[in-house]
Amino acid sequence: MLCKDMEGGISEHALCTHMATFALKVDLMTLFGNVSDDSKITEFHNNYNVCWSEMESRLGGKFPEPGSEQEENFQTALNGAKDFVKGVVEIREKLEITEENERFIDILIRHCADEDTLLSDAITYVVGGFHTTANSLAWGFYFIAGNSAVQDKLHAEISEHCGKHDSIGISSINKCVYLKQEFDETLRCSVLAPFAARYLDEDILLGGYPIPGGTPIVHALGVSLQNPEYFPEPSKFDPDRFSPENIKNRPSTAFQPFGVGKRICPGHRFANMEAAVCIAAMVRKFEIGLVDGQKIEPVHGLVTHPSTEIMITLKQRH
Ligand code: HEM
Repeated sequence: MLCKDMEGGISEHALCTHMATFALKVDLMTLFGNVSDDSKITEFHNNYNVCWSEMESRLGGKFPEPGSEQEENFQTALNGAKDFVKGVVEIREKLEITEENERFIDILIRHCADEDTLLSDAITYVVGGFHTTANSLAWGFYFIAGNSAVQDKLHAEISEHCGKHDSIGISSINKCVYLKQEFDETLRCSVLAPFAARYLDEDILLGGYPIPGGTPIVHALGVSLQNPEYFPEPSKFDPDRFSPENIKNRPSTAFQPFGVGKRICPGHRFANMEAAVCIAAMVRKFEIGLVDGQKIEPVHGLVTHPSTEIMITLKQRH
């Protein structure tokens, strides 16, 4: 059950499911344009889920036997995802592309040397942007729902800068300093992206240690996000850790939820803006609460997700 009406104008909603649908739609529309066929989106979602579980399972060291049913299911799902992108390319190639309607896929069509590169780049961006955003929003609303003082402060700030009904633009969002603090603390507290990884092409000296070429390196982002030296009581949710004064007391490297350096997440600005607009739109319209009696634990994988669906309550604000 995704939604249920309760007494007193309150309704219950399955937060993670809604955030997954929202994030996938935003991801696909931004990357590929107006993908309006919902059945195609559902089919893509199903194929995507098979590929994602397979990647998480391989990450845990479980590689399927060549020719096994598991490997075959994975290849079928991957081919299904590629067919979806091929369909999008066909549509885009027939359109007149202008500055207004240009999307990421149009840039790939212009610049990729061959179809394989285009398909794999397109799918990499969907993979990079979907679960990360969906789970960051689910955790963001979970923390807001469970912290009334945080929610009140957010609501006051958002009402002041974004109004009650006005469209939410970049300049009003940029004035919402506490909203950014809330989202930064969400990424830190949930350890949303626990690690990044590199495979060294050449020998390097890292922090004074020689590391030979060919070594896989794990950048343990989650360890630094929970470092009690910079974030005392690390599991406590406290957006004030990111107030302008408190940020000054930490090295900038203490907080790297999107990685760092040349391979920093290329979607980090987009992810911050998408989350800010979504949270602002919801908080100014609804009082958000948690349904009683839920025990939510983080499950760490490629992305940290909640152990079960999170049920929230919404009550329209007047
Ligand atoms: C809250 C949301 C997000 C978080 C926390 C996040 C986090 C990360 C991290 C930690 C990395 C690895 C960086 C490194 O290797 O140093 C990464 C890579 C990547 N992300 Fe994101 N990401 C988010 C949203 C997005 C979005 C919205 C997109 C695209 C629409 C995206 C696309 C990518 C891609 C393509 C890579 C691979 C980059 C490369 O290997 O050069 N991400 N992301």
